[in-house]
Amino acid sequence: MRILQVSAEIFPLLKTGGLADIAGALPTALQAQGCDVRVLLPGFPAILAGLKEPVRVGVFGTPWGEAVEVRYGALPAISQNDQTVYAYVLVAPGLYDRPGNPYEDANKHPYADNHRRFAALGWGAAHLAHGLDPHWRAELVHSHDWHAALAPACLAVWNAGMGPRVPSVYTIHNLAYQGVFWPQHFGDLGLPGHVFSVQGMEYFGQISFMKAGLSYASHITTVSPTYAREIQTPEQGCGLDGLLRGRAQSLSGILNAVDDHVWNPATDSQLEHHFDVRNMTGKARNKAALQAEVGLTVDAEAPLFTVVSRLTEQKGMPLVLSGLAEILSRGGQLLVLGNGDTQLEQAFALQAKAHPKKVAFRMGYDEAFAHRIFAGSDVTLVPSRFEPCGLTQMYGLKYGSLPLVRRVGGLADTVTDTDLETLDDQSATGFVFDDFHADDYGRAIRRAFALYRRRSDWNRVRQTGMRIAFDWASAAQHYTNLYKSLI
Ligand code: ADP
Ligand code: GLC
Repeated sequence: MRILQVSAEIFPLLKTGGLADIAGALPTALQAQGCDVRVLLPGFPAILAGLKEPVRVGVFGTPWGEAVEVRYGALPAISQNDQTVYAYVLVAPGLYDRPGNPYEDANKHPYADNHRRFAALGWGAAHLAHGLDPHWRAELVHSHDWHAALAPACLAVWNAGMGPRVPSVYTIHNLAYQGVFWPQHFGDLGLPGHVFSVQGMEYFGQISFMKAGLSYASHITTVSPTYAREIQTPEQGCGLDGLLRGRAQSLSGILNAVDDHVWNPATDSQLEHHFDVRNMTGKARNKAALQAEVGLTVDAEAPLFTVVSRLTEQKGMPLVLSGLAEILSRGGQLLVLGNGDTQLEQAFALQAKAHPKKVAFRMGYDEAFAHRIFAGSDVTLVPSRFEPCGLTQMYGLKYGSLPLVRRVGGLADTVTDTDLETLDDQSATGFVFDDFHADDYGRAIRRAFALYRRRSDWNRVRQTGMRIAFDWASAAQHYTNLYKSLI
């Protein structure tokens, strides 16, 4: 099967969140299942720099009259073992040649022409499904998140009039980011008028890329089974739950996995001290090194709670702040790496200043440091308000840091709460709470301390978590079966 994967980011070339991790791992996982996979990406500087031996495949015109060149080449940074990943990249400097974040300017404002920048991505996919490259034609287009959500609409329009039917899969990584634009931009999208309707991409008078993906994709997936159910309710549907309920037969959840080449404490090139489930001395060394690195008291007995996250309300950061006293009064420590909302950044900086030996805050984005944190951490905090999948709780599990999560979305699908029953049957892997409220979160923190005092139980729970594979083979198998059923 010839599958075109379409996304705006891809690890390790360009990453703002979990989407990049998934986009970077899925191609080789699908290749291992026998798929013929290529990826399509916008020509951001970091992506063009990673494209090796590029050749020009062709050019297509955008609805607003800009020429976009499609270049083809290899992505050695994403290739694994003997599997090379090949990519098409859209070369349009006017759209993509901007430094920094792919979606917003230095003042954190979305670029005013984002609808054009990502409409080009959708049309690029449709062209590659319909012969732009005479040597390779996609049999199915799989696009990710709103940036690539116009692809299913472009394909549906093309399918209706101009060529053989090419099915599409659209994966929602986060329904809260929708790509909504003023209606006057609709003309720039090059889609027929009927697409601007309730059955199409019209959303409360505006145009929504997310809705285009949901309306026109042959099949919709989410990145966890629980999230697929949650988004069909008004509470989590972001105004699209009615549409999603209507498409329930074509909506399913496939749980994300963890790329073992990148996230494995036994081989991780970012770590000084390697460890695995049978030999945990490296973990203790990593913890001491981490405490020293960030200026916390070096103390093996103090449980180290950590956060590696975008600092937003979605990620439950207000709960982390409100529960800090609980951690400190019991002799714990907190380390936070992240950036995002200015108010949250300031609040964490303030706490670090007030408790220099017990709280550390590093503002920014630092991939290598994130690895060292999971390796040294005792508890990974992910108390999200909503969470389509969440990757950091899985990284925590693999690195022997017990996740403390809210029972929502992919967090509910990946962490088993510790109670007498789950301790007894050895299924416990972390701490799970229900209400997005300081009381319930605080109780989970206290349970973490209670288990930490029972060190042999703690170690057993940690071992259970470290043994979970979260392997890409089974996720890729689910995607492959889905593609087969659609082609
Ligand atoms: P989301 O995509 O919603 O932000 P995920 O848990 O799916 O959440 O993925 C987040 C990814 O980004 C993980 O790989 C995590 O390690 C990484 N990450 C988040 N914040 C930072 C940061 N400040 N520095 C380094 N890596 C980060
Ligand atoms: C999104 C979600 C996150 C998920 C990631 C990768 O960013 O917020 O929950 O893990 O995509 O699918």
